[in-house]
Amino acid sequence: MRVGMLTSGGDCQALNATMRGVAKSLYKMCDDVEIIGFEDGYRGLIHADYQIMKPSDFSGILTKGGTILGTSRQPFKLMRVPDENGLDKVEAMKHTYRKLKLECLVVLGGNGSQKTANLLREEGLNVVSLPKTIDNDLWGTDVTFGFQSAINVATNAIDCIHTTAASHGRVFIVEVMGHKVGWLTLYAGLAGGADIILLPEIPYDLDVIVKALKERNKQGKRFSILAVAEGAISKEDAKLSKKELKEKKKNQVVYPSVAYELGAKITEKTGQEVRVTVPGHTQRGGEPCPYDRVLSTRLGAAAAGLIMKKDYGYMVAMKNNEITKVPLAEVAGRLKTVDPNCSMIREAKLLGISFGDE
Ligand code: F6P
Repeated sequence: MRVGMLTSGGDCQALNATMRGVAKSLYKMCDDVEIIGFEDGYRGLIHADYQIMKPSDFSGILTKGGTILGTSRQPFKLMRVPDENGLDKVEAMKHTYRKLKLECLVVLGGNGSQKTANLLREEGLNVVSLPKTIDNDLWGTDVTFGFQSAINVATNAIDCIHTTAASHGRVFIVEVMGHKVGWLTLYAGLAGGADIILLPEIPYDLDVIVKALKERNKQGKRFSILAVAEGAISKEDAKLSKKELKEKKKNQVVYPSVAYELGAKITEKTGQEVRVTVPGHTQRGGEPCPYDRVLSTRLGAAAAGLIMKKDYGYMVAMKNNEITKVPLAEVAGRLKTVDPNCSMIREAKLLGISFGDE
């Protein structure tokens, strides 16, 4: 039995641990399994760049960050668009799959990758996918692998800022990854004791932020820490269409990112010194935390179980602390966002944490 495997999209900490979980379980359950590893995600499947994996390739990688197969971003919206040489990518992927006589394809990926996995399923390939992303924004699973490890990194950044913040009377902004969803910022912000947390799902009002900062000053607090998602957006901007926003930005000062823009505006309004920290891709780096190692191992074993039963067309998932499967057709194209009225936000507000909205 030949099984294809690929890691697609932005990397994260437990990709290797997950592949190990799938591979070790398959080798254990099936005597004649051969795993084909595609290089750099769907790119490898399109261009038939692959390695025949050996069981030893999956040993010693439980704690190793990154992905031994490499990854790349192959946008879903371009999948049906021929490449610069006129290549039909979907046909090319099907061709590679059939030429290699694969029994199935195992895809480790986030939102876009799950959409392509579903497209390949619709095209008749046997697909099993696993939920990867530090953003935790995949619909159908309570948690994705990579998320907890990224929380650790982002929290550590806020912790480090705390000690320096206590020495200087300044406003600190830590920009956390997440363009569309704020799970990572919410968890790291709470875990790191941020005073203000800004998420893409809760548009902010600058005046509310300024009021919260002044309030802290009045209480004699020497510093304030903001955990700000990459995709945090003001109330005015949230009302604009993508096109209108682009037009508006054209006539404004260009900042490297939202944290810098916010920092400049806070200084303008309060006269307070602001420092910005962007942990960036460190949030996807380093070794997976123990939670992710366990999650990945369990998800990997469950994916292998589906393959042994020839039960295809699913993403393995974690629901209410149980490993389960969700139809790819349901997962594809749906984002799991933070509900602004969820209990976690309400509890954080009870503590006095400001989300910049009220
Ligand atoms: O999808 C994971 C993620 O790390 C997001 O949190 C972030 O916005 C994006 O990828 C960064 O993408 P890239 O690595 O392509 O710069």
